[in-house]
Amino acid sequence: MAEITRRIGLSLGADVCWPLCYEALLKRLDLAIPRGGDRLRFEVERVTIEPFDLRQPVRYDLVIDRLTHWYFTSREWIKKAVVMNDLYVYNNPWSIQANEKHTTYCAMMRLGLHVPDTWMVPPKSYEQTADLKPTLTRYAKLFDLGRIGGQLGYPLFMKPYDGGGWVGVTKIDDEAKLRQAYEDSGTKLMHLQAGVIPYDRFVRCIGFGPQTRVVNYDPSAPLHDRYRMDVDFLTPAQRAELENITLTINAFFGWDFNSCESLLRGDTWHPIDFANACPDSQVQSLHFHFPWLVKANLKWSLYCAATKRRVRHTLDWEPYFMAAERESTYAARLAAYARLARAHFETDRFEEFCAKHLSHLDEVAWEFFGSQEARDAVRAKVSAIYPAHEIEPFTELFWQRIQHWRATEGARPA
Ligand SMILES: Nc1ncnc2c1ncn2[C@@H]1O[C@H](COP(=O)(O)OP(=O)(O)O)[C@@H](O)[C@H]1O
Ligand SMILES: [Mg+2]
Repeated sequence: MAEITRRIGLSLGADVCWPLCYEALLKRLDLAIPRGGDRLRFEVERVTIEPFDLRQPVRYDLVIDRLTHWYFTSREWIKKAVVMNDLYVYNNPWSIQANEKHTTYCAMMRLGLHVPDTWMVPPKSYEQTADLKPTLTRYAKLFDLGRIGGQLGYPLFMKPYDGGGWVGVTKIDDEAKLRQAYEDSGTKLMHLQAGVIPYDRFVRCIGFGPQTRVVNYDPSAPLHDRYRMDVDFLTPAQRAELENITLTINAFFGWDFNSCESLLRGDTWHPIDFANACPDSQVQSLHFHFPWLVKANLKWSLYCAATKRRVRHTLDWEPYFMAAERESTYAARLAAYARLARAHFETDRFEEFCAKHLSHLDEVAWEFFGSQEARDAVRAKVSAIYPAHEIEPFTELFWQRIQHWRATEGARPA
C-alpha cells in the first residue's frame, strides 16, 4: 500500500482568517483516504509569487485562488498551469476575466431569470486615442438620457458594467439626478438598471461546488452586521429557488465559489449581482456563517483533490440554452438548469465522499471553533483591519457569534 500525497495550494493576498482555519482543520482531520489500494494524504501550502518557466511542472493537485481578478502574475501562472498541467483551480480564471457583470446579466436574461431591465450607455467621456474622433463622429448617435430613465422608471441604479465591491454604484431618484450622475461618471462604462425598490428581502446565496448557503442580508447595516444571523427566514420553496439559481449561475460560468445577490419583490426573485467569483470570506463580515464557509471550502477542495476532478478547459452553454428553449415555464426551466448544474458538480458522488471519508469533520470543526487557535485566527484578522482600541471588542463580538454557531447548527454531533 503506497502513500500518495495530494497537495492543495492556497493562492492568497490579504486573506488571513479562513486560511488559518482551513490549514488547522485539515491538520486535525488527519486524513488517510483509501483509494485503489493506496492511501491518500493531503498537504496544504501557500503559493508563492515568483518568476516561472512556462514549461515547468506544477506541484499542486488543486489551487484555491483569491488573486485572479486583480493580480495578473498569479492569474497567468494559473492559466499556464491549467493549460499545461491540468491543474484544477477555483475559480476558472478565463471565466472570471471574460464574464463580468454585463455578460452574466445577458446570459441569465437569456435563461429567463428575472434580472431587472438593464441598459448600457456609452461613457460620458473618453481617454483620447487615435481612432476615437472618427469613430464617434461617424457613428455615435446622440441620445436622450432622460428617455431611457423614463422608460426604466425611478428609482434606478447606475453602476459600472463590470463592477464589484459597491464601487461607483448610485441610486437615482429622478431625471435631474440621472443627468448629474452621468456627468460624474467620466470614462466609466455604465449600466442603468431598474430599481427593485422597495423589496421584501435581500438574500445572498453563497455557492461552494454543490453546496449552498442562503444568508439574510441587510445592506443598510454597518459592515459587521450585514450578514444577519437568522436561519429560518425563507420558505422551503424560496430556499430551493435561490439555491437553484446560484447553482445554475456557478455551473454555467464554471465557478466553484461565488455568491449571488437576489431581491424579492412580491413572489419574484430578481438576481442583481452574481459575478462575484472571489466572494467575501472574512470573519468580520461572515462571523456566524464563517465556520460553514471554511467547512464547505474544505469539503469541496478535498473532494476535488482526492477524486482528481478534471478541470474543464472550456465552458459549454448549449445545454442551458436548449433547456431555455425546450421548457415553457420559468419553474420548469430552472429545474432543468439545476439538474445540469448538479450533474456538473457531481452532487451525489460528492455527498457520498463526504459521508464516507469526512464524517468526523463536524466533530473536528466543532472542537476547533471553540479552541484558542481559532480565536487567534479571528483576532489576527481583526488586528489587520481595526484600530487598536477596537481589536478586543470586535474579536469578542465575532467570537461570540461563532460560539452561537457552535451552540446551534454546529452543535456537537451525538
Ligand atoms: N436593481 C437594483 N435594485 C435595488 N437595489 C440595487 C439594484 N442594483 C443595485 N442595488 C443596490 O446597490 C448595491 C450595489 O450594487 P451591486 O449590483 O450589488 O454592485 P456591486 O457588484 O458593486 O456589489 C446592492 O447591494 C443593492 O443594495
Ligand atoms: Mg453586490
